[in-house]
Amino acid sequence: MSNLLKEKVVIVTGAASGIGRAIAIQAARHGAKAVLVSDVTELPREGGTQTTAEIEALGVEARFVRTDVSKYAEVDALVDTAAEFGGVDVMVANAGISLHEDGADVAEDQYRRLMAVNLDGVLFSAQAAARQMKANAKSGSIVLMASMGGIVGAGMTVAYSTSKGGVVLMAKALADALGPDGIRVNSVAPGTIDTHLLRTAPGISEAAEGFRQRTPLRRLGKPSEIGDAVVWLGSDMSSYVTGISLLVDGGLLSVI
Ligand SMILES: NC(=O)c1ccc[n+]([C@@H]2O[C@H](COP(=O)([O-])OP(=O)(O)OC[C@H]3O[C@@H](n4cnc5c(N)ncnc54)[C@H](O)[C@@H]3O)[C@@H](O)[C@H]2O)c1
Repeated sequence: MSNLLKEKVVIVTGAASGIGRAIAIQAARHGAKAVLVSDVTELPREGGTQTTAEIEALGVEARFVRTDVSKYAEVDALVDTAAEFGGVDVMVANAGISLHEDGADVAEDQYRRLMAVNLDGVLFSAQAAARQMKANAKSGSIVLMASMGGIVGAGMTVAYSTSKGGVVLMAKALADALGPDGIRVNSVAPGTIDTHLLRTAPGISEAAEGFRQRTPLRRLGKPSEIGDAVVWLGSDMSSYVTGISLLVDGGLLSVI
């Protein structure tokens, strides 16, 4: 497709399904040297090894690495795996969850479970990648997965919105902290993307048709369209872009 990611080693967390899987495949299509497909479980839906097989069929090296991003030591071990290919150039901290019962009364254990993945996991992924990039003197790119729900609030997703708003600010703060080392940090904020998470998220799945009708482009987004945005942020085409949140929403948040 292109050589935008030529010679780059890419790690994608939460990559055995949905958006993460599409990012991993798009990275391979755009010339990555190797893609580490990481997820907490091999078979959430489409599957980790099925994803690595698709990437290998494109002539790109791939590994599935089981990682729970809420555990720092596991994320550190994931990044160490990239050393085999010369070290990580692009870290995509994509893994994220939503809750069946979110809102103003969200239960403490559920709130903590969500934050452990959506905030702790994203920070740990960025930290571990930055540590290796600095050690290798690489000017890498770190892309954090936010959401339109981190830019505007919704009463039915109080914990989710809080976590994603945190991710948007995390990218800005890390951009400042890591910029002097030549490491860029940005977030991507998808709108309504047609994945399992969207179809099963309570309230959101019912609201999806309404979102579609209000979206200027009048359709849901495809996971590969988030993949393309991440490829751009991971590539040298965006070499002077850091700290932004790139909204990929078909225009939904631009209209009333
Ligand atoms: N689908 C949408 O409309 C939408 C919109 C905005 C943002 N997002 C964000 O995009 C990302 C991907 O969402 P998706 O729609 O592809 O959902 P998904 O449920 O298909 O994929 C999420 C993946 O994360 C993995 N995961 C969960 N807990 C993990 C953990 N502790 N460690 C490692 N991996 C873990 C899951 O196994 C799964 O493969 C999430 O961060 C989500 O919040 C999605």
